[in-house]
Amino acid sequence: MTYRVAYLIGSLSSRSINRRLSKALITLAPPQLEFFEVGIGNLPLFSPDHENDLPGPVIAYKAALESADGVMFISPEYNRSIPGALKNAIDWGSRPRGRNSFARKPTAIVGASTGAIGTAVMQSQMRSVLSFLDAPQLNSPEVYITYSPEVYGEDGTVHNEATREFLAHFMAEYAGFVSRVLSAIKPD
Ligand SMILES: Cc1cc2nc3c(=O)[nH]c(=O)nc-3n(C[C@H](O)[C@H](O)[C@H](O)COP(=O)(O)O)c2cc1C
Repeated sequence: MTYRVAYLIGSLSSRSINRRLSKALITLAPPQLEFFEVGIGNLPLFSPDHENDLPGPVIAYKAALESADGVMFISPEYNRSIPGALKNAIDWGSRPRGRNSFARKPTAIVGASTGAIGTAVMQSQMRSVLSFLDAPQLNSPEVYITYSPEVYGEDGTVHNEATREFLAHFMAEYAGFVSRVLSAIKPD
C-alpha cells in the first residue's frame, strides 16, 4: 500500500535549513510513502471575513491537504514558538467551522534550528494545536535537529551515519503510524 503524504515547510526562507532537512527525510523514507509539498507562502493572512468565500489559494491549499493520507510538518522555531506563516496556514486549514482539513490525518512534526534545543518548544506547541485539530500525531521518536551544514547535502544526502540511521528510523516509524491510523479510522 502506498500513502501520499503532504509536507508543509514552516519557513519561507530561500535558504531554509528545514527545506534541506525535508530533502533528507524524503530521500530516507520507505518506498510506501510518496511526498508532495503543499506550499504556504501564497496564502493570505487569515481573516474570518473570508471564511465563507475562501480565496482561491486557500481553496487549492485545503484541497491538497484533504487529498493527502498524512501530513508532515517540517519547521523552524521562531521566538520559541510556531512561525507565523505556518500558524496562518494551520488556521486556514482548520476553517471554516466543520471543514477542518487536518481532522483524522496522521501527522508528524520535525524541525531544525541553529539553536541548541532543535525546535523542541515549537514542536511542543504544535502538539497542542494538532490535538485540538483532531489530528493523530506520531509521538515517538521525537526529532529535534540542531543543524550542522556539513551533515546535510543539498541533494538530500546525510553525511553522518548515525543521523542517517536515526532519520530513516523516524520515517519508517511514521510509515507504520500512517498505516495503523488509516486502518483504525474507518470512513464515516
Ligand atoms: C524571527 C526568528 C526567530 C528565531 N527564533 C528561534 C528560536 O526561538 N529558537 C531557535 O532555535 N532558533 C531561532 N531562530 C533561528 C533559526 O533556528 C534559524 O534562523 C533557522 O535557520 C531557521 O530555519 P530555516 O532556515 O528553515 O528558515 C530564529 C530565527 C528567526 C528569523
